[in-house]
Amino acid sequence: MSEPLGREAGTGMAPKESRLAVVGAGSMGAQIAQQAALHGLEVRIHDLSHEQLRRGLEANRSWLRRRVERGRLPAEEMEAALARVRPAVGLAEAVSDADLVIEAVVEDLEVKRSVFAELGRLAPEPAVLASNSSTIGVSRLADASGRPDRCCNMHFFYPPLVMDLVEVVKGPATSERTVERALAFARAMGRTPVLLRREIDGFIVNRILHMATQEAYRLLDAGVASFQDIDLAVEKGLGWPLGPFRLGDLTGLDVTYNARLQMYRTTGDPRYRPSPALEAKVRAGELGRKTGKGWYEYQRQES
Ligand SMILES: NC(=O)c1ccc[n+]([C@@H]2O[C@H](COP(=O)([O-])OP(=O)(O)OC[C@H]3O[C@@H](n4cnc5c(N)ncnc54)[C@H](O)[C@@H]3O)[C@@H](O)[C@H]2O)c1
Repeated sequence: MSEPLGREAGTGMAPKESRLAVVGAGSMGAQIAQQAALHGLEVRIHDLSHEQLRRGLEANRSWLRRRVERGRLPAEEMEAALARVRPAVGLAEAVSDADLVIEAVVEDLEVKRSVFAELGRLAPEPAVLASNSSTIGVSRLADASGRPDRCCNMHFFYPPLVMDLVEVVKGPATSERTVERALAFARAMGRTPVLLRREIDGFIVNRILHMATQEAYRLLDAGVASFQDIDLAVEKGLGWPLGPFRLGDLTGLDVTYNARLQMYRTTGDPRYRPSPALEAKVRAGELGRKTGKGWYEYQRQES
């Protein structure tokens, strides 16, 4: 476990930043907060829904308890890490002394813009404002904050307590200093950042995943191989833990379909057009694990 950032003051370098605020305590926000706290950062977290805030923190306790049971985290570290994530009923209280704010609210442009406008008013003037959005580039949010040079994307992956990657995206107005601070924060949270020097739809990972998945569907639609054999080929030949069809069943085929559609509409690029086979699955309500059937059947365990 790395040292808390604040303890490194006195090394001759500027004291590092260690106060994080997270807005939105859903699937992503709660775990982002907890990941930072595991690495010694002080975190405030806020959600419009008090019930969701409570549930998010409770879910974090379950995750950490499992680590303790497996001998991967000392019990006292668990309590200390949980205590470092402090819930805040109001947004002002959550962000009043933050060095970095990570926005992880619902994927809705207008909601995010209104949160960025509030953050511009309520967060300390030097604070960096980062969005965890998967699809909304910071250029569409930054102007609402009144401090576009201090805004960027910090895109974490689900589940943030496990997935060791953060895509930091420099928007057209983002300053170099903001990029450096976001990268340093990601590292301080025990995560590996990569930098996109230019904002693009889908960032890096989803862009590559989308294209690889699209190619898999193209092979299926053309009758080149069965979906089972395409999965096997990708798993054994490329070393992916799950082939594209197994992965789609896990994520939800409706989610996969909507992501394609969104990319297709945003870019107008025919390469992103959703496959007819995928569309048929969605129309049939065969959405993957959550409906018991997608590409595979899940009555008992995965077939
Ligand atoms: N789920 C994923 O796999 C994933 C992965 C990477 C990035 N993301 C991105 O993370 C963000 C959050 O996704 P999620 O899956 O955690 O969503 P979620 O629906 O689980 O959580 C969103 C939370 O935001 C809260 N909220 C809504 N409006 C708010 C406001 N104005 N102020 C404070 N809280 C508000 C909701 O109450 C909810 O608890 C989205 O932008 C999404 O694109 C999601």
